[in-house]
Amino acid sequence: MTILVTGGAGFIGANFVLDWLAQSSEPVINLDKLTYAGNLETLASLQGDVRHVFVQGDIGDGVQVSGLLEKHQPRAVINFAAESHVDRSIHSPGDFIQTNIVGTFGLLESVRAYWGGLAPEAKAAFRLLHVSTDEVYGSLGSGDAAFSETHRYEPNSPYSASKAASDHLVRAYHHTYGLPVLTTNCSNNYGPYHFPEKLIPLMIVNALAGKPLPVYGDGMQVRDWLYVKDHCSAIRQVLQAGRLGEVYNVGGWNEKPNIEIVKTVCALLDELRPKADGSFYSTQISYVKDRPGHDRRYAIDASKIERELGWRPAETFESGIRKTVQWYLANPDWMANVQSGAYRDWVLTQYVAT
Ligand code: NAD
Ligand code: DAU
Repeated sequence: MTILVTGGAGFIGANFVLDWLAQSSEPVINLDKLTYAGNLETLASLQGDVRHVFVQGDIGDGVQVSGLLEKHQPRAVINFAAESHVDRSIHSPGDFIQTNIVGTFGLLESVRAYWGGLAPEAKAAFRLLHVSTDEVYGSLGSGDAAFSETHRYEPNSPYSASKAASDHLVRAYHHTYGLPVLTTNCSNNYGPYHFPEKLIPLMIVNALAGKPLPVYGDGMQVRDWLYVKDHCSAIRQVLQAGRLGEVYNVGGWNEKPNIEIVKTVCALLDELRPKADGSFYSTQISYVKDRPGHDRRYAIDASKIERELGWRPAETFESGIRKTVQWYLANPDWMANVQSGAYRDWVLTQYVAT
C-alpha cells in the first residue's frame, strides 16, 4: 500500500511525512510544487530511503497527477498543498486563488477519475483527506463559544476565503459523486521546520539576530496553538477511522494572545541562550501597524475528534514551545539556509524523481 501526500515539503506536510515514515513501512509519494515555502532540506534525512518518492509538480496539473495516481495506485491522498500565509494573501491574492481553489479543483478531478476506475475493494477503501484551517470560520468575539464543525463559514482574508472555497469543493465532490473524502480544520500549528514568515519562528530568528520583534496592533489577538506533531497524529487518526464525508476540527485547547506567545518565546530564549549584555529579549518587542482585516480570535472546539476518534493533543503549550525553541537553537543551519535562500538549491538534482 502507498499514500500520496501533496505539499509534503512544506511545514506541516514535511512533519507529517517524517512522522509517517518513522512509524510505518508504507511508502509515501510526495508531490510538491516547491514554491518558496517548499523546503527539501527538511526531508534530508529521507535521502536514499526507498519509501519516500519526491516528485516536483502542481496539484492542478491533471496530466501529472493522474499519471502519478495510475503509476503508484495509492490507497489515500492527503492534501496539504496550499498557499498558506495570510499576509501574502493580502498583498498578492492571485496565487491563493490559483492553488487553493483552482488547484484543489484539479486535484479533485484527477482523484475522482482514478477512484472511479478502481476495483470495488480498493474503491471502498480509498480516502481523500483535505487539510484545512479554522480560519474559514472567521473571527470570534471574546465571549463566543469555540468553533464547532457546524459553525457558519465566514472567511475574512483572501487566504481563508480560498481555503473555504476548497472545503466547499471537497464537500461537493462527496455529495455529488460519492468521493470518499475527509476534511480537517485545524488551528495554528507551531514546531520544527516552520518557515520564518509566521509568528513563532519569526520571533525566534529576529530575537537571536537582535532585530525588532514586530507585534501587530495591540498584540491581543488570540490564536489556539497546536504542536505540529499533534496535528500529524490527528490526521493519521482521521485517515484511519474518520467517517466518510465528515469534518473534524483539530485544536490544542491552547488559546493565547499573541503578546503572551512572544513574551514566552523571549523568556525561553533568556533561559536557554541568554544575551551577552545581560538584557532581556523582550526589550526587542516592537508594536507595529496591524494586519488589514485582522481576525481577533480563533478557538477550536476539538471535542468531536476526541469523542469519535479518541484523539487529544499530547503536548501542552508549555512543553511544545520549549521543544520548539530548543529545536531552532539546535538547528541554526536549517534556519540560515532558509534565510539566505540556499534551501532552494538543496539536493534538488539528486532528489527530484520523475
Ligand atoms: P506551507 O506554506 O508551509 O507549505 C505548503 C506546501 O505546499 C509547500 O511545500 C509548497 O511548495 C506546496 N505547494 C504550494 N502550492 C502548490 C501546488 N500548486 N501544488 C503542489 N504543491 C504546492 O503550509 P503549511 O503551514 O505546511 O500548511 C499546510 C496545509 O495546512 C495548508 O493547506 C494550510 O492551509 C493548512 N493549515 C495550516 C496551518 C498552520 O498553522 N500552518 C493550520 C491549519 C491548516
Ligand atoms: O489558524 C490557522 C492558520 O494559522 C493557518 O491556516 C495559516 O496557514 C497559518 O499561517 C496561521 O495563520 P495566522 O495568520 O494566524 O498565523 P501567523 O503566524 O501569520 O500569525 C499569527 C498571529 O500573529 C496573527 O494574529 C498575526 C500575528 N503576527 C504575525 C506575524 C507574522 C504578528 O503580530 N506579527 C508578525 O510579524
